[in-house]
Amino acid sequence: MPHRRVPRPSELRPYLRTGPVHLWPTERRLAGAATIWDLRSAARGQVPRAVFDYTDGAAETETSLQRSRDAFKRVEFVPRVLRDVSHVDLSTTILGRRSEMPLIFAPTGFTRLMHAEGEPSVGRVAARAGIPYALSTLGTTSPEDLIAAVPDADLWFQLYIWNDRDAVVELARRARVAGFRALILTVDTPVAGARLRDVHNGFTIPPTLSVRTLIDIALHPGWWFDKLSTEPLQFAVFTETGGTVADLINRVFDPTITIADLSWLRDTWDGPIVIKGIQTVEDACAVVDAGADAIVISNHGGRQLDRASTPLEQLAPIRAAIGRRAEIFVDGGILSGSDMIAAVALGADAVMVGRAYLYGLMAGGERGVARAAELLRKEASRTMQLLGVSRVSDLDGSNARLRDR
Ligand SMILES: Cc1cc2nc3c(=O)[nH]c(=O)nc-3n(C[C@H](O)[C@H](O)[C@H](O)COP(=O)(O)O)c2cc1C
Repeated sequence: MPHRRVPRPSELRPYLRTGPVHLWPTERRLAGAATIWDLRSAARGQVPRAVFDYTDGAAETETSLQRSRDAFKRVEFVPRVLRDVSHVDLSTTILGRRSEMPLIFAPTGFTRLMHAEGEPSVGRVAARAGIPYALSTLGTTSPEDLIAAVPDADLWFQLYIWNDRDAVVELARRARVAGFRALILTVDTPVAGARLRDVHNGFTIPPTLSVRTLIDIALHPGWWFDKLSTEPLQFAVFTETGGTVADLINRVFDPTITIADLSWLRDTWDGPIVIKGIQTVEDACAVVDAGADAIVISNHGGRQLDRASTPLEQLAPIRAAIGRRAEIFVDGGILSGSDMIAAVALGADAVMVGRAYLYGLMAGGERGVARAAELLRKEASRTMQLLGVSRVSDLDGSNARLRDR
């Protein structure tokens, strides 16, 4: 039997030491998030269900999205030991400009729906993190307003081509004149994917007032207060609204575009051009031959064609086919800094994330996006240290492989 005694008060003190006290619920919520998945859980409580589902959901059975995420579970890292990893440099060069991480905030439509702070808050975080951010054609902040809000960010403009070609050219010109550096043409959306959660939720733009909406106002008063007390939620470029996002896409997007359209785009845009939504070696080669500076291997986060090919699995064959003729970015299912490092080791120049920062945005506005960026950076840095690699440029196929299952 051990000898028992009464502890002295000084011996109890270490147990009573508390962490930082977060008085504000948002701070508390964000400080408690140790992963992007935690931000996702926090987001779920903050916004109406239809908004969460619009962001979180994908097309049809959501198999594309699930497979994209599962592919990262197949990554097997190959760590080296006894290397000096006291300093890790995550910086790299993306389309000729230094970026502090091999990470780009992807274009996402309707961002002010997730939080009233919207695109400017995402841009501010990107600027502070030193990474690029792409504004969507379906954005809720105009190109000019975004540049005014974040003049020192590396901003790219994402273009959809719709049936009024003159207006498309005019929009691209506007973005270039405003100061956007690169143009992303998204080519995987000739028509809208079937986002069934939106259909089941009756999700429309603007939201329609129904009994369900009224119940939701009671459940998420903060989100509704923000919505009703700030500028009305609308597309910054399109005047067309009414119906679902899919209705809008099907009504105005141009399904006739072909690779020949890249040449007039070249005439319109004198900066780097990125083609987003490439899923095969053949299309990668075709757009690079047509002059693309970079491609994004992407299935739109699983929001378009369900059961489409998995971006991470396309990376090696596409890199082998195009070599260093163009930069390669990959997206879909990236939810941690270690996913980012894995993709770079497997051949990507950088990755894009959509939902990862949108979960942060829904969970806590700009501070939530900042928390997402911080988590991704810390995880990436730790993964590099554990891998025994101190510079992004030293990552290669010897650091990671894809297991069969
Ligand atoms: C809510 C939401 C809206 C999106 N809107 C656009 C868009 O307007 N244009 C575009 O090219 N891609 C859009 N995407 C796709 C993203 O750019 C990106 O390809 C995708 O989110 C990557 O997958 P991840 O969310 O798993 O990171 C959107 C994605 C989400 C989640």
